[in-house]
Amino acid sequence: MNLLQRVWRSSLGKKYVMALTGAALFLFVVGHLVGNLQVFLGPEAINRYGHFLKTTPEILWPARIGLLTCVGLHIFAAMALVAQNRVARPVAYAKVGAHGATIASRTMIWSGLIILSFIIYHLLHYTLTLPSVNGYGFDFSTLREEEGRHDIFAMIVMGFQKWPVSVFYLIAVGLLCTHLGHGVGSMFQSLGFKNHVWGPRIGGLARTVSVVLFLGYASIPVAVLSGFGGGHLSEVRARIAKRVSEHPVVPGRIEVSHGTNTTGKGK
Ligand code: HEM
Repeated sequence: MNLLQRVWRSSLGKKYVMALTGAALFLFVVGHLVGNLQVFLGPEAINRYGHFLKTTPEILWPARIGLLTCVGLHIFAAMALVAQNRVARPVAYAKVGAHGATIASRTMIWSGLIILSFIIYHLLHYTLTLPSVNGYGFDFSTLREEEGRHDIFAMIVMGFQKWPVSVFYLIAVGLLCTHLGHGVGSMFQSLGFKNHVWGPRIGGLARTVSVVLFLGYASIPVAVLSGFGGGHLSEVRARIAKRVSEHPVVPGRIEVSHGTNTTGKGK
């Protein structure tokens, strides 16, 4: 058995894997929030940022592959640890919640699985822009600026104008931040940086960071539901209507931008 196999077989080895992949995913969540908050700078800023990422495959693809690997390893190690703990302790504790465990710590596996379902939905919603999941039934990738760039600003605003979608995002992001609040504390413990002096400080810092992340992510759907971005969307709709009246096309389909068509449903 080589060293890697021995590390993986030990529960400490799996905890290291969880800690390191969790740290990478945490950094992604922070970075993604910073990128998304550019929505408050207006369409130009976020559309330029999205366009840059999509037209820079040397950044996009290594990041995607790295993310996918981290998500896979994180889940795999979590499942293996749960299975290993069940074998070690087939009879559950008589009193759940003893030993000072918080709700977040006892439900990590469940919050993790719900977050995974959210990520799958989110990818279908905004990355793959699947018409059947956004509540309008049309493809968000056909929202284009005059110059042809993907209008990510309009896509985000349209997406969150559907309140059930926004509520789902708010619940998922709340769970994600609860998961992170506990996970970041455990990460330091697994890596051996937590003791009775630093433990409470690290725990407090992790909870504060998770609240800040929640407020940041939640601010976007909440702002949209409060009317943010409505002006830009009206301009987009007026542009589409003008183009349709100037270039009538096949009934039931309208031209949104240079060379891209979409159905007019739900506008
Ligand atoms: C208000 C909340 C959020 C907004 C507005 C948002 C926005 C977006 C947008 C617009 C994209 C697609 C970019 C593009 O292809 O043009 C995207 C992709 C993505 N988002 Fe989010 N996001 C939010 C929350 C989250 C959260 C909480 C997570 C993680 C748990 C997350 C993970 C991802 C991932 C993994 C991708 C795919 C990146 C890729 O293209 O490879 N997002 N997000």
